Amino acid sequence: MVQITLPKNSKVIEGKTWPRPAKARPTREYRIYRWNPEDGRNPRIDTYFVDTGDCGPMVLDGLIWIKNNVDATLTFRRSCREGICGSCAMNIDGTNTLACTKAMSDVNGALHIYPLPHMAVVKDLVPDLTNFYAQHASIEPWLRTVSPVPQKEWRQSHDDRQKLDGLYECILCACCSTACPSYWWNSDRFLGPAALLQAQRWLLDSRDEATGERLDNLEDPFRLYRCHTIMNCTKACPKHLNPAKAIADIKRVLVERQV
Ligand code: SF4
Ligand code: SF4
Ligand code: FES
Repeated sequence: MVQITLPKNSKVIEGKTWPRPAKARPTREYRIYRWNPEDGRNPRIDTYFVDTGDCGPMVLDGLIWIKNNVDATLTFRRSCREGICGSCAMNIDGTNTLACTKAMSDVNGALHIYPLPHMAVVKDLVPDLTNFYAQHASIEPWLRTVSPVPQKEWRQSHDDRQKLDGLYECILCACCSTACPSYWWNSDRFLGPAALLQAQRWLLDSRDEATGERLDNLEDPFRLYRCHTIMNCTKACPKHLNPAKAIADIKRVLVERQV
């Protein structure tokens, strides 16, 4: 028989409320999704109070403060803390974004923090990005050429280089793909906005000599055409890129090459 309710152990329950810091300084309330695959318990929401006088102003600063001062088991990814590596992407106050560039002051009331939506969770705020990275690899994000390798370098004019602006800056944070309803339901076959933005980056590179093959690889009802121009991706991108436009541009080129 078809099961139409969530399994019992998938329900998110109220977790532990950790003590406030002893000294009476300003605090911010963090409500954080917790799940440990090894303890057999349901996911839960733990509540923490961050001493904002003792850490930086960003949401990531608060998470690091919690890990260092309250609960060392809290698990999340981060590296650069400058919006460059993409590893601290998570859902904060209902929006996918980077914890290191999101200011606590941008959120009213308690900060509600979850992992990126619709991804398998490895632990707490860490999503499983295996499929996301495999999709990126599938678009072959490197220069493909057949011409003899030049003695010094593959040359590119200033104008051609500028065509890559708005594409090369992607940090593969996955905020866009995990905000996309088409990706939620078809992430096994739809490449998603991040991989498709990168596909367009290589299609537009004047030095690349595999454009036809790249387009053939994308001309597929699922890999590309599952995008229905809902635009969540563009709204979510913390680097202010426009994956929806990149996808529309690929679709246009595919139509143009048929005439
Ligand atoms: S525009 Fe396309 S890729 Fe972007 S959110 Fe919508 S369906 Fe997803
Ligand atoms: S397009 Fe933007 S949101 Fe998507 S992976 Fe790249 S940087 Fe992140
Ligand atoms: S820690 Fe690198 S983008 Fe946030």
